[in-house]
Amino acid sequence: MNRILVTGAGGQIGSWLVPRLRELYGEANVLATDVRHLGPDFTEAGPFQVLDATQPKAVGQAVMRHDADTVYHLAAILSAIGEKDPRLAWHVNMVSLEAVLEVARDQGCAVFTPSSIGVFGPDTPKNPTPQDTVMRPTTMYGITKVAGELLCDYYHTRFGVDTRGVRFPGLISYGAPPGGGTTDWAVEIFYEAVAEGSYTCFLEADAQLDMMYMPDAVDALVAIMEADASKLVHRNAFNVTGMQLTPEGLAAEIRKHMPDFQIDYDVDPVRQAIAESWPDRIDDTAAREEWGWDPSYDASAMTADMLKHIEAPA
Ligand code: NAD
Ligand code: SER
Repeated sequence: MNRILVTGAGGQIGSWLVPRLRELYGEANVLATDVRHLGPDFTEAGPFQVLDATQPKAVGQAVMRHDADTVYHLAAILSAIGEKDPRLAWHVNMVSLEAVLEVARDQGCAVFTPSSIGVFGPDTPKNPTPQDTVMRPTTMYGITKVAGELLCDYYHTRFGVDTRGVRFPGLISYGAPPGGGTTDWAVEIFYEAVAEGSYTCFLEADAQLDMMYMPDAVDALVAIMEADASKLVHRNAFNVTGMQLTPEGLAAEIRKHMPDFQIDYDVDPVRQAIAESWPDRIDDTAAREEWGWDPSYDASAMTADMLKHIEAPA
């Protein structure tokens, strides 16, 4: 992996991944792209191009001009926005993935595509949720993620494209805000705690979901693409998790640092229903065994680090 193109680079994951890839593989070797213009962090630290990932010809030209051998395909619409506009979610998530996979087949690239705990649905065993299990999601986001996993496996087995992916849980980070998902509360809570000393949560107090701190997520992205292909039994996509959180549990962690922090609830029925359809805890044994997945942050370490960075931004 020497020459990399990242789609959707300006989002919550890309804003962490692009600097890490540039550090590892060289600034000039990592082309950041997004459908919108991005700030100097992207455009001055290495190459950047505006690119709509749903346009196959433009994707093909960008990959060819950059001489890319690997694409990290992050452009997507997330779960809550996807329920507001399901056709947009289908269009962006599926058309862009097909475009990237076709270009990869044509130009011999490896492709990373993030899947999600959103692939699971109410019929899936919730705790623990196995690697290989029932996947009948009830959101358009989840439908596109299941179809995306299958399409990536198809391009691998049928055309030999080196496709790899993980099913990320909710990702927690500072910096670029999350892009409209059901797990966004676990980021918002920190900003509101620091700004207001309180937070009104859109999920119920005991809504438990898998989560992961972004430094671990970026490690996962790099590790799976660096993994020895001969050791991979699965490809698209591996369960990975860092911790399990409820709003009341995370509030208790925050109170260890801010004893007066208050949480209350104004539940959004759409996002609560999505959360109820997702696992309480996924089993990531396959990722641990096949490519050494081993997260560093638990809820306590993540909370301390988030508060440190939000209270005193660099
Ligand atoms: P995000 O919403 O923060 O960022 C998505 C980026 O894609 C944005 O910068 C947006 O401008 C860009 N984009 C949208 N449409 C585009 C298009 N047509 N062409 C090019 N760029 C386009 O999302 P994220 O949180 O960074 O997620 C990235 C990927 O990871 C997605 O596939 C998402 O489903 C997956 N994922 C994220 C999480 C999470 O908690 N953040 C969890 C599981 C999976
Ligand atoms: N964080 C994502 C969402 O809530 C999970 O894929 O949509």
